[in-house]
Formats: sequence, C-alpha cells, structure tokens
Amino acid sequence: MSKTIAITNQKGGVGKTSTASAIVSGLAEKGYRILAIDLDPQGNLGFCLGAEIDNSPTVYELMKGAVPIGQVIQSNGTVDIIPSNILLSGAELEFNHLGREYLLKNGIAPVRGNYDYIIIDTPPALNILTVNAYTATDNLIIPMIPEILSLLGISQLRETIDLVKNIYNPKIEVLGILLNKYDKRRLLTKDVEEMAEIIAKELYTKVFDTKIRSSVTVAEAPAHGESVYQYSPRANSTRDYRMLVEELISQKGMKLDGEEKQ
Ligand SMILES: Nc1ncnc2c1ncn2[C@@H]1O[C@H](COP(=O)(O)OP(=O)(O)OP(=O)(O)O)[C@@H](O)[C@H]1O
Ligand SMILES: [Mg+2]
Repeated sequence: MSKTIAITNQKGGVGKTSTASAIVSGLAEKGYRILAIDLDPQGNLGFCLGAEIDNSPTVYELMKGAVPIGQVIQSNGTVDIIPSNILLSGAELEFNHLGREYLLKNGIAPVRGNYDYIIIDTPPALNILTVNAYTATDNLIIPMIPEILSLLGISQLRETIDLVKNIYNPKIEVLGILLNKYDKRRLLTKDVEEMAEIIAKELYTKVFDTKIRSSVTVAEAPAHGESVYQYSPRANSTRDYRMLVEELISQKGMKLDGEEKQ
C-alpha cells in the first residue's frame, strides 16, 4: 500500500513546495514509484517538476469529476504528477456539496496502488483544499522557517488537524516539523528551535533531526527545470534534503510493506 505525505503550513513562503519537490525527486532517485499532487492554485509544484499546467486538465477537473484520473496524470520521465492551476482557487465556493472533503481522496483512489509514495503540496491556507489533503493523507510534514511570525497561527493548524482526525481521517499524524532556511549561527534560530520543540509537543510530534540550510540552489533549480540533486548535488541544502529523505524512509510507519518485514 502506498504511503501518502502532505506538506502543510498555512504560512506562505516557508518552503512547502521546495520541500515537496525535493522529497519527490529524492524518493524517485532511490527508485520508488512516486505520484506528486499539487493542491495549490499557484501551481508551483507542477512547474518545479516540469508539468504542463496551463492547457491540461488538472487536480481541479479531477476533484470536479469532470475527467477520469488517467487524463490528469502527467509524467516527467521520472515521476508522475497531477498538476494544479489557478482554476482551483474557486474550490471553496464551488465544492460546496455534501462529501466535499473526500474529493481528492476518492479521485486518487483508483491509482493509489500504482505508487510507493504519494506527495501532496498544499496552499498557504486552511481551507477546503487543505482539508481535502488531510483527508487523503495519513502523514503531514510541517515546514517552518526561523522567524517568529512563522510560528504564529499554530493553534489554527492544530484545530484543522484535530477536526480532520475526528471526522474525516482518524489515521492522520504529523510526522514532524521541518526547520527550513536554517542557520545555526543566527541568534534567533536558537529561540525558534526551542519554540519549534514546544509546538511539536502540542502537535504530538517531533522536530526532524535534519534541518534544511539556506542556499540559492533551492530557488535556482526550478528555474533551470532541474531538481536540486541534478542542479547542484553538493550544495548544503541538497545534502540536507538527501538526509531528510533518509530520515523519512527510516521512520516507523513510513517503510513500505515489503521493507517492513525485512
Ligand atoms: N532552504 C532554502 N534556501 C533558500 N531559499 C529557499 C529555501 N527554501 C525555500 N526557499 C525559497 O523561498 C521561497 C518560498 O519557498 P516555497 O515556494 O517552497 O515556499 P511555500 O511554503 O511553498 O510558499 P507558498 O506558501 O507561497 O506556497 C522560494 O523562493 C524558495 O526558492
Ligand atoms: Mg508553495
């Protein structure tokens, strides 16, 4: 059975998409079969992974039930992608019928068995799209950056997770908080690290051992149509993302069925 991870934080610009993209490419590099799903109307994950996002059916048409799943899955030769575009921004108003929380989960059900890992990128919001992601996934990763403002609003995030856990998906768990744009020489980093530990306890989770350092590679790689591993294999952030992938797959509950038995 495939494992599903959504990358989430309602704060903008904390590295959700960069992290989703790096995990997708990192797992693919290890030979796993990956489906990447972009649930953000900004369409950035699809762009990072080289999908065609403007003139192809996207996750929006899938959730609407307008096209079969086969028509929304693209491949970049390495991973499969369900892209998104701006049309998805109408979701809150448009998806207003009973069962609207299950649209993504039901939409991807026919292909789940084809993949080892399914990675979902989410918008900087707590809305029906976020709830759809949380309903379709059993695992969350919460990236944060070392700025005090990035730590506010965690109680709303927790409420949304609790809501989904109570009603739509009792299996949902936070795998961990990921500190991104990390610089251990900055004074504030220490404070933020301590706060992140406190937040992790509130969310019944931990802070990942791996932290992602800042480097221009993260911003430059997508502009060159490459993953961070291809673009700059030795950059600090690339090494960090490689370690994160190792940390992730060695985590209890994240091993695939065959691997768990070994
Ligand atoms: N470790 C890093 N080092 C340097 N730049 C980074 C790093 N992580 C992210 N960035 C840059 O920060 C910006 C925001 O990152 P990203 O788009 O991944 O965040 P996001 O949480 O997905 O944003 P949004 O909420 O808008 O979807 C981007 O320009 C990205 O290139
Ligand atoms: Mg993003």
